[in-house]
Amino acid sequence: MKISASSKICMIIGDPVSHSLSPAMHNAAYEKQKIDDEFVFVASNVKIENIKHLVSGMRAINIHGLTCTIPHKVEIMKYLDEIDPVAKKIGAVNTVLNKNGKLIGYNTDWLGITIPLEKKLKSKKIKDLKVALIGAGGASRAVSYAITSKKGKLTIFNRTIEKALKIAKEIDNDIEVKKLSDLEKEGSLHEFDVIINSTNLGMGSLEGISPISENSIESHHIVFDIVYKPKITKLLSLAKKKGASIIYGWEMLLYQGTAQYEIYTGKKAPEETMKEVLLNN
Ligand code: ATR
Repeated sequence: MKISASSKICMIIGDPVSHSLSPAMHNAAYEKQKIDDEFVFVASNVKIENIKHLVSGMRAINIHGLTCTIPHKVEIMKYLDEIDPVAKKIGAVNTVLNKNGKLIGYNTDWLGITIPLEKKLKSKKIKDLKVALIGAGGASRAVSYAITSKKGKLTIFNRTIEKALKIAKEIDNDIEVKKLSDLEKEGSLHEFDVIINSTNLGMGSLEGISPISENSIESHHIVFDIVYKPKITKLLSLAKKKGASIIYGWEMLLYQGTAQYEIYTGKKAPEETMKEVLLNN
């Protein structure tokens, strides 16, 4: 690392943040592209009540890029100078660029869905797909935008139907909404091409739990779990067992990160280097 007085600072904020792989992923990429004298990426644990001060501080000390993770993606929007229309539509910002003193908010989370999904498809496009999204929390808004902006047909299954209806109203009226319990029947996802889990079932204290039973998974499905810890969740292990294709949660992290790297540096991201960091940590 060749940090100097002219290095630009990028930072991830979250609460908690110590588990974040963004600093390792971005710093490895700076090194690979020999711009580690120009950029450095650090992390800070920031309480939600301090977001307003954080943004003043970003202006005062000229932080170049700010990555926002849970729980800051919505709160930060109030304090920025400009919000990109896609981030506005999703209703969340995960990337802030300081462009000559003007703070501009973007969202790259949705690209963490479309890029790995498009890579997995052979002759088909997202517009040819029927996608079942499980969950209607914060993360599912970016997934809903990802699928519907590419003209895919989306159905949201959630335990609390009202939350899914709100997303349909705000993101795209063509989104169909159903109860999570509708998936208890064998073959209930037969008509779908893709199943995406955006609930927190499978992580933390819910590790080992799958949002759907193996009876609903078939070999023609692509199963994408946005939970990235553990790398192989219960849902993905069931999908493998049923012969389905799988997309790991780390792939979403990777491609939201490569898009963000491009916003911060103006350079195409070294995808392989960033992927290695995610796989080795
Ligand atoms: P995030 O911002 O990470 O998406 P969230 O907003 O708390 O987190 O949303 C969590 C999602 O997981 C929601 O869809 C939630 O369902 P409800 O909307 O019904 O609360 C879902 N979820 C969490 N625990 C669940 C459980 N035990 N069974 C079914 N769904 C669950």
